[in-house]
Amino acid sequence: MPRIVFHKSGAVHTGEVADNTNLVVRAAIREFPFPHLRFGCGMGKCGKCACRILEGGEALPPPNWKETKRLGAKIDEGFRLVCQLWLHHSLTLAQDETV
Ligand code: FES
Repeated sequence: MPRIVFHKSGAVHTGEVADNTNLVVRAAIREFPFPHLRFGCGMGKCGKCACRILEGGEALPPPNWKETKRLGAKIDEGFRLVCQLWLHHSLTLAQDETV
């Protein structure tokens, strides 16, 4: 089971999620990381769900075209659009700045 460590505004929130989980989908139905995860469209357009990956990023697929278009150079700083990620591995991420 993927273990999620979510840093937000100086606090750390942890939870276990099922394999093949999308954190924005979970937050939308008010499950962890709700209410901490900021998100909007769920479709890779608004950028509100952007998080910086701190650990576990090597297990993620490469950024898709929506992430590349929305995040640009921020990808090189470790940012991903969480709504575009279906998780199969544990992940540590932070959402403290907007992109
Ligand atoms: S929620 Fe809008 S880009 Fe992810």
